[in-house]
Amino acid sequence: MKSLYLVAAVTAALALAALYFDSQSPVVAAAAATTEAPAYANAAYAPQPGRRPSVQEMTALGRTMFFDPSLSGSGKQSCATCHSPDHAFGPPNDLSVQLGGKDMKIAGTRAVPSLRYGQNVPPFSEHFHDDDGDDSIDAGPTGGRTWDGRADSAHDQARIPLLSVHEMANKDAAEVIAKLKRAPYVGQFKATFGETIFDDTDRAFQAALMALEVFQESPADFYPYTSKYDAYLRKQTTLSTQELRGLELFNDPTKGNCASCHLSEILPNGAFPQFTDNGLIAVGVPRNKKIPANADPRYYDFGLCGPERTDFKDRPEYCGLFKTPTLRNIALRQTFFHNGVFHTLQEVMEFYVQRDTNPEKWYPRNRDGSIRKFDDLLPEHFSNVNMEPPFDRRPGDKPALDDAEIKDVIAFLKTLTDGYKPESKPESK
Ligand code: HEC
Ligand code: HEC
Repeated sequence: MKSLYLVAAVTAALALAALYFDSQSPVVAAAAATTEAPAYANAAYAPQPGRRPSVQEMTALGRTMFFDPSLSGSGKQSCATCHSPDHAFGPPNDLSVQLGGKDMKIAGTRAVPSLRYGQNVPPFSEHFHDDDGDDSIDAGPTGGRTWDGRADSAHDQARIPLLSVHEMANKDAAEVIAKLKRAPYVGQFKATFGETIFDDTDRAFQAALMALEVFQESPADFYPYTSKYDAYLRKQTTLSTQELRGLELFNDPTKGNCASCHLSEILPNGAFPQFTDNGLIAVGVPRNKKIPANADPRYYDFGLCGPERTDFKDRPEYCGLFKTPTLRNIALRQTFFHNGVFHTLQEVMEFYVQRDTNPEKWYPRNRDGSIRKFDDLLPEHFSNVNMEPPFDRRPGDKPALDDAEIKDVIAFLKTLTDGYKPESKPESK
């Protein structure tokens, strides 16, 4: 099923490209051979005139744009400034949130996610039915891009940072296009999308977003599957005894139970695991005082119920829910959870197993000395928070994992970093 999403996502991007530029695109013809035509193929919006770009052309152009700081209001920030290729397209530093805006001084409100392995994230749906197993089970809110799932594709997503005041801070699409027209690669842009592409600002902006999206679907950059764990799944290498112990604890429903959300096993269709089920879940992470927006005691980031997302603002049962991120390349990060409140894997692990046994370690106290557990939520949201293992404990209980077991799980998590070279050269897969 997951690979179907991949086909669907790539097909959707290419089909969109075709609708925009030419309905006879050879790329789409190839994609159409494997799937049915999209529902909107005969929609009222007619194909636009223009050139048919190939995937290779759009990837090359999207790559150039991704690394181009001149596309930002400050002239100093590209997508890669926050999504660093050396950190699996996640943040290059340990700041909880990155700075941006016209003067590069405006702080964001959320940690930068890795852009790797997003290729088969399903579009957001409130009631997700997984076709891997029992179709009748409603897994609840699932999918979409960003921590709250509000963007449906990398294409929709790219418009957010280009225009957000605390990121690349362009006033509107026209400002982005004006910058593209001055870029040294303007010739490449026209060669890709046609000489007349700049005649229509909206069409040019769509083209720019599409190039960024297609680049983010390039396998070698975004889903290489070259970690030690992938080599292990391909039986090209073995894990150390400590890594194997960590994997077992990660999977064990009575210990870490991590794999119940961060899927770790090969799927029935043979697809390799992404270490997320894309579900939106409330974990109840502590409020992060380092985020400037949090200086206002009335400001809360509730994820699925707002404020970034507005379609569920009247659904208190969705407050506190954030998307389960992939754990692939997690060891390359220095900031964790949607608000970047933790900075080491050790802290994250201790939070998971001691949130309920030792809440005083994680949350502040009220005036009367009681602990303000889940201090980044309102009391009416507390029942949204997940209470399954390792969160099934009370103060005084033994944590689900002890110190040695935490070290084992971290050793396992380090096998999820791409770029592993097996010692003895195995046959290719
Ligand atoms: C100032 C830092 C910053 C810059 C610059 C930036 N991003 Fe992001 N990006 C973020 C943050 C923060 C999020 C999470 C936003 C949220 O959850 O609301 C994010 C989320 C994303 C996502 C969704 C990932 C997911 O896991 O769902 C994609 C895709 C993305 N960015 C692509 C881009 C592209 C393409 C550019 C350049 C046009 C870009 N970003 C520029 C900070 C940045
Ligand atoms: C009930 C589902 C669930 C379980 C079980 C679970 N996680 Fe998570 N995990 C999440 C969600 C949701 C987030 C994001 C929460 C947020 O930011 O508010 C997350 C975030 C993380 C992060 C931070 C990732 C990042 O990019 O910032 C790490 C690391 C992590 N989990 C590891 C684990 C480990 C290890 C276990 C087992 C001990 C585990 N998780 C168990 C759902 C789960």
